[in-house]
Amino acid sequence: MDKILIKGGRPLLGAVEISGAKNAALPALAATLLTEDPIVLHNVPCVRDIQTTGQMLRDLGCETDFRTLESTHSCKVLARNVTSCEAPYELVKTMRASVLVLGPLLARFGRARVSLPGGCAIGARPIDLHIKAFEKLGADITIEHGYVEARADRLKGTEIFFDRITVTGTENLMMAAVLAEGDTVLNNAAREPEVSDLANLLCSMGATIRGAGSSTIHIQGAARLHGAQHTIIPDRIETGTFLAAGAITGGDVEIRSCRADHLLAVIEKLEEAGVVVERATPSVLRVSAPHGLKARDVITAEHPGFATDMQAQYMALMTQAEGTSIVTETIFENRFMHASEMVRMGANIKIEGNRAIVFGKTQLTGAKVIASDLRASASLVLAGLVAHGETFIGRVYHLDRGYERIEEKLKGLGADIERVR
Ligand code: EPZ
Repeated sequence: MDKILIKGGRPLLGAVEISGAKNAALPALAATLLTEDPIVLHNVPCVRDIQTTGQMLRDLGCETDFRTLESTHSCKVLARNVTSCEAPYELVKTMRASVLVLGPLLARFGRARVSLPGGCAIGARPIDLHIKAFEKLGADITIEHGYVEARADRLKGTEIFFDRITVTGTENLMMAAVLAEGDTVLNNAAREPEVSDLANLLCSMGATIRGAGSSTIHIQGAARLHGAQHTIIPDRIETGTFLAAGAITGGDVEIRSCRADHLLAVIEKLEEAGVVVERATPSVLRVSAPHGLKARDVITAEHPGFATDMQAQYMALMTQAEGTSIVTETIFENRFMHASEMVRMGANIKIEGNRAIVFGKTQLTGAKVIASDLRASASLVLAGLVAHGETFIGRVYHLDRGYERIEEKLKGLGADIERVR
């Protein structure tokens, strides 16, 4: 099992290219099931979750071409001869985003059998809101043997209100509604850029969607959708991670091919904490922290608030800030596991319910640590970059799920980092 070895203490200097957003590419790949025509996607990150999704689509009977994904970041899917409507437990348990095939399969074929994803490291993560909304569209849903069985002759558009904002719930229902009879309105919808990116793809496939990116999305049902090409938006969480990396190491990093407007809350919070973020162009940021870091509280929230996927990385940064900061997590019930690993590296963090109190500045020392989920892994890399001595991070497969070649990108910025088998 791969590990990552980091010798800390080097400031990051130079330029790094941001990859396409995993959390935009995953729903886009699911959307290919909505048409019998080919879909070509560009700027797709070559990460484990994307490969897993490619395999799932092939298991459903799609023809895929992922051969040049690593070099061109483009891939093609043709869902003309779908032979199965089932996403098995063995697959869904490794990647909960597989539930995103529920909407498209139900909409195009009138049936879907998808394993309940089960919980993960950061929380229970149910999909009750997805299921309730599918039933509102007229689907018959039974849950037995750990599977969601969904059937519908033809989904019928209606008014849906999400009790709680859900990103993949919004995406799943958008993909179901585009082939439903009549119009659907999604109220209290997620406003993440990845939702808007999916809506843009669906519209290029012939769907009629208004309001994506706001809390109310109007979808006009169509009889069929056609093929399209689409370029995935940059990964705003990878962008935030490299902003934090440049700041925590006291370096000076140019971050290219990003979208600053997709992470304004993160940039503003970093600036409050003393980080200098220069908007060189709309797609290039330059980050440094010439005057050190100041402790500033943060509360995670749905977009456009401070992203929960940046909470762990921000906590690592706050261990290097002068003063006490409070990190409040409002989205997931168990997303502080990185804290105990940072404490082992010398951080002074106290957990009180959904709040982590970080007493900075503490000198971190390298240690053997274990990753628990995708973003926790990233925060341990950040801690290792600033720690004195060597940090060994185990279970880096978590990291590989959502970051493309992160050790190469960091090495290109001068970090002393390598992957060891
Ligand atoms: C998406 O997960 C992202 N994943 C997550 O990124 C991200 O952390 C999360 O949104 C929040 O921004 C993808 O886009 C593939 P939610 P999702 O439904 O859609 C509760 C990463 O690191 N909820 O918005 O699964 C849920 O338990 C991953 O890339 C219900 O109760 O998150 C959570 O507390 C981690 N019932 C909250 O809502 C439901 O039916 C928000 O979840 C659905 C959700």
